[in-house]
Amino acid sequence: MLGVFDSGFGGLTILKPIHHLLPTTSTMYLGDNARAPYGIRTQEEIFQFTLEGVRFLFDQECPLVILACNTASSQALRRIQQTILPFEYPDRHVLGVIRPAAEYLAKRGNRVGILATPATVESEAYIHELYKLNPAIKVSQIACPGLTDLIEAGCTDHALCDRLVHDCARNLIVKDPYIEEVLLACTHYPLVASIFRKHLPKSIHVLNQGHMVATNLEFYLTRHPEIDSRLEKTGKRTYFTSSGEDISSLASMFYGEDIQFTKIQVS
Ligand code: DGL
Repeated sequence: MLGVFDSGFGGLTILKPIHHLLPTTSTMYLGDNARAPYGIRTQEEIFQFTLEGVRFLFDQECPLVILACNTASSQALRRIQQTILPFEYPDRHVLGVIRPAAEYLAKRGNRVGILATPATVESEAYIHELYKLNPAIKVSQIACPGLTDLIEAGCTDHALCDRLVHDCARNLIVKDPYIEEVLLACTHYPLVASIFRKHLPKSIHVLNQGHMVATNLEFYLTRHPEIDSRLEKTGKRTYFTSSGEDISSLASMFYGEDIQFTKIQVS
């Protein structure tokens, strides 16, 4: 199975395009909803929680896990790849969502905006990746603290959510009024994409990374048939959460069709 990990609901915005592009690949989703948001936590906490999620998915026999979370990708991916996999799981793989999005963005324009969690912004992962790919690029970043909490609570149509998105969008434009592309660089934010669209100037393209990640994954699997052949192809879809609450109806609303989550213990 292909493992997909997020701090909560956000990874569903990555999972859906993966299901669309690779419909027969069986997937196992884990949302650590009980401990979301990750974006305001320390690097050590994000690393430990992400590693626990990855270990859980490895224990369920996932040979490949996608960290469908920018915060986990920016704060834990490299450390997992360098200090855990070679010693404990030499035949397993973990990929993130930042590199595929940076590759797409770097080709699109020279002035980009990044809206992300405080931890992703602080890591400067997007700045580093984008400059490596396009040294002429100008990157402006804004953190949106509090937004993941509102989305996790299902408050996407509350006035507070609208206000918060408005303020983040305005702060980004104040930083660089000439931005051409804005990436919703937290997988939760596409769940309120229409609010970002409303508050950003019409001339700006607002981009979600789901399709970028799914396309990149498809290409990765064609380059690595030895990994692809280890992924079950019965189209089975399994959803796990660390939350003790029944999150299935909210998740179904976000995913756009009925999905059922099972509670598990990650720590
Ligand atoms: N969805 C995650 C991301 O892409 C993290 C949100 C959070 O837990 O703060 O960054």
